[in-house]
Amino acid sequence: MTESPDLPAVWLRYNCPCPDCRDPVTGQRLLSITNIPNDLAVTVTAHTSAEIGLTFAPDGHRSVFRRDWLAARARDEADPRTEDAKRLWQAADHGDPPAADWHTYLGEDATRAEILDAVVRDGFALLRGVPASPGMVLAVAETFGYVRETNYGRLFDVRVEPDPANLAFTSREIAPHTDNPYRDPVPTLQLLHCLRDATAGGDTGLVDGFAAAAALRATDPVSFGVLTGTPVSFGYIDKGTELTARQPLISLSPRGRITGVRYNERSMRPPAAEPLFAALRAWAGLLARPEFRLPLRLSPGDCLIFDNTRILHARTAFSAPVSSNTGERHLQGCYADLDGLLSTLAVTRRGRGTAGS
Ligand code: FE2
Repeated sequence: MTESPDLPAVWLRYNCPCPDCRDPVTGQRLLSITNIPNDLAVTVTAHTSAEIGLTFAPDGHRSVFRRDWLAARARDEADPRTEDAKRLWQAADHGDPPAADWHTYLGEDATRAEILDAVVRDGFALLRGVPASPGMVLAVAETFGYVRETNYGRLFDVRVEPDPANLAFTSREIAPHTDNPYRDPVPTLQLLHCLRDATAGGDTGLVDGFAAAAALRATDPVSFGVLTGTPVSFGYIDKGTELTARQPLISLSPRGRITGVRYNERSMRPPAAEPLFAALRAWAGLLARPEFRLPLRLSPGDCLIFDNTRILHARTAFSAPVSSNTGERHLQGCYADLDGLLSTLAVTRRGRGTAGS
């Protein structure tokens, strides 16, 4: 038999599942590209409906592949971080934001998978009925991943403070932004858990930064080009901390697809370049458009989980309490990362028998 498979010989050899090429216990590759002959050829020497046997020349190495494995792996997988793996949205698309009850989320794999999948595809999800007690936000993060500790601690309190180090700790309106753009790497997930509500105002708003960036690309490609091509510095300084990071406001994958946004006027240090300011004006105008902004009112027990590389969050002003000790609105937040969430989602789906090999 001299049939040759329609996949490159070097790719097949590199993926050979035999115990000489791949450790049977860990599944990790033992082979290196440097061990593969340069002038490699392959022929199909056996096949069944489930498997295919290959023989390589010139070394005579043999491999047996499962057909379903080959079919799944030969596709160039979509990067889960780019716009191609997301459901881009405007406010009107979310009559009912993705949400679940905390106890159902804890008790049912299907609900947990739905919520985690919503964070991946929509960029956010809401858990309701999380006990409104201090520290619970960490317990929520630990259901799917690992808390990212920062100079703010494992968690941070968002409430009015008498001597605020951050505008978040005042009663002012906060425009749409991503958190901590002065970190490298930036925390990829943020959680906000409402412990106590404001009597008036303090509403949360979410903007899909990927949808806004795609709209900018469609309507103002010059500004899109400037924002994707100009590194911008962000900085944070206090008594014990000095952080800076430098990245474009809209990041693209190597294939030119939208893969991240970072935007926070409070900490941005744009370079002295006029075209950047024109693009910034266009971008800020887009982000402020009401059709992009999904209003959410967080009630005590609500915990919002969102992708901090995609979703911008905002807050309306609220009436400040007379004294910070009697402060009304109180949220607790923490950071975590998408890799842990994606792993938990994959394992949860494996448990439900929906995963691949
Ligand atoms: Fe924030």
